[in-house]
Amino acid sequence: MNDKNNKIPFDEDNYTHNINRNNERVLDRRGFMKTLVGAAGVFAVSSLPWGGVAAKELAGLGEKEYKHKKITDIKSLAIGDSVDFKFPGEHDDAILIRLSDNKFVAYQNACTHLRCPVFWDKEKGEMICPCHHGKFDAETGAPTAGPPRRQLPEIQVNVENGVIYAVRVKRYEA
Ligand code: FES
Repeated sequence: MNDKNNKIPFDEDNYTHNINRNNERVLDRRGFMKTLVGAAGVFAVSSLPWGGVAAKELAGLGEKEYKHKKITDIKSLAIGDSVDFKFPGEHDDAILIRLSDNKFVAYQNACTHLRCPVFWDKEKGEMICPCHHGKFDAETGAPTAGPPRRQLPEIQVNVENGVIYAVRVKRYEA
């Protein structure tokens, strides 16, 4: 039998030689409270501006401006026609309708009832949601029939040099 492998290479006391209780940091009640207050302070300061933004967003009152996005050229959109686009994100469906020579309206086209897509019915001159026969006024985005109770979020558009841009989403009080 080889003695060597069974031998502890140093005195067992060495296992605890580096523990010196006198130098351990004691997290007493006062220390704990200080840490807690500090953490709360950091959280409050870091979340302050966003709290305001979130409150405004939740209240649904903000008008949010995004990077302007080209929707189409005026000459490619006849009076009474509509075109679908995405705004502000690549997954946010929206619709632009040309109501007259120089009147353009645009909305996020997720129905305010249960978010089905809303379509422009050119013949009837109204926006319809096929899911539960919801209808919206194309001039204002306000619901006119069916279960929807809130108007469609309007997208403000700008016309520059014959091009229509989406610039801002208007949100309404829920
Ligand atoms: S989802 Fe549009 S009417 Fe219900």
